[in-house]
Amino acid sequence: MNQRELFLRHVAQTSAAPLALEISRARGCSIFDVNGKEYIDLIGGISVANTGHGHPAVIDAIKKQLDDYLHVMVYGEIVQSPQVRYARLLADHLPAGLHSVYFTNSGAEAVEGAMKLAKRYTGRTRIIAAKNSYHGSTQGALSILGDEYWRNAFRPLLPGIVHIDYNKYDWLDQIDTTTACVLLETVQAEGGILAPDKAWLQAVRQRCTETGALLILDEIQAGFGRTGKLWGFEHFDVVPDVLLLGKALGGGMPLGAFISNRKIMMTLTENPVLGHITTFGGHPVSCAAGHAALKVLLDEDLTQQVAQKEQLFRSLLHHPKIKEIRSFGLWMAVAFDSFETNKKIIDRLLEAGVFTDWFLFASTCFRICPPLTISEKEIETACSQISKVLETC
Ligand SMILES: Cc1ncc(COP(=O)(O)O)c(C=O)c1O
Repeated sequence: MNQRELFLRHVAQTSAAPLALEISRARGCSIFDVNGKEYIDLIGGISVANTGHGHPAVIDAIKKQLDDYLHVMVYGEIVQSPQVRYARLLADHLPAGLHSVYFTNSGAEAVEGAMKLAKRYTGRTRIIAAKNSYHGSTQGALSILGDEYWRNAFRPLLPGIVHIDYNKYDWLDQIDTTTACVLLETVQAEGGILAPDKAWLQAVRQRCTETGALLILDEIQAGFGRTGKLWGFEHFDVVPDVLLLGKALGGGMPLGAFISNRKIMMTLTENPVLGHITTFGGHPVSCAAGHAALKVLLDEDLTQQVAQKEQLFRSLLHHPKIKEIRSFGLWMAVAFDSFETNKKIIDRLLEAGVFTDWFLFASTCFRICPPLTISEKEIETACSQISKVLETC
């Protein structure tokens, strides 16, 4: 059997027709298949490879950590310098109220930890989430996911969850003194890049403050420069009580985090002690890689280039078949009339050497979410291929 056949037989599948592209290498904004064909990566691992694939500084940091030590002890018991260094760097670039970092293995685990934290800190159980939100595939994260089709098969899920309309004022009074937290994506990703009104997000913040509910913002896709600022919430002059990070956080290695202040975070240390523990969360190699990637992001000023690159994409993407382009930084949803049209375009783009996909709750849109290091030339090449494909579809 060849690799593809072995993949289909032995690696558990998530859909009946996986892409099954056989990758041999990835560098910068390119991935290469086993036949040496190059693809411009417009997905970046879905907002993971913000500093590009295989950045030398990230690879060096990983190699150095491999030489020092791998896993030594569960999270939180001993001082591991890669964790400490990275938590400190994150805190240095976050508002003062976000200075205590709990590292996890994944985004979904950060969501789980934050929901537990909110229950523990407030003594309440009601959680408000938004329709069209995606927060991960574990049971808790699935309970707050904002689409019944994806949730229903896995019931019973967590009780006490209220799903509200994102960006609508009507339901603000749902946030009351029984609410443990409001958990939202700062910008909804899988809904097809849906940004909130600044005034609305500020009203949510205010209502949380008034009622004592924690505002938890999920920036697992939005963080690390994707939106044109280091953190998405900076666009809205709002600071969450808890911030969720993942994806680009690990610089290509598995890592998630929920971040709050020390007072809130300390509730996980008592009654019961060890209120949230993990064997591999904050793995030293992941923290070393993430630390190096954030340094690259800051040192190379990648966030500053995002708006210009976004505009370049927008200026080059014009075609009658495109119904709408929604973007928030280097993060775009290009909409067509149907899923069938979109799927055909995505397949043809792959043949033409451009790698993209669609969104969970916006299947008529394809995704543009490349490494922030993408060059103008790569943007021009990708857009030229997109235009050619649109002519033939
Ligand atoms: C906004 C958002 N939150 C949470 C998650 C879950 O992260 P993970 O897949 O690392 O569990 C994702 C993953 O796509 C996401 O996009």
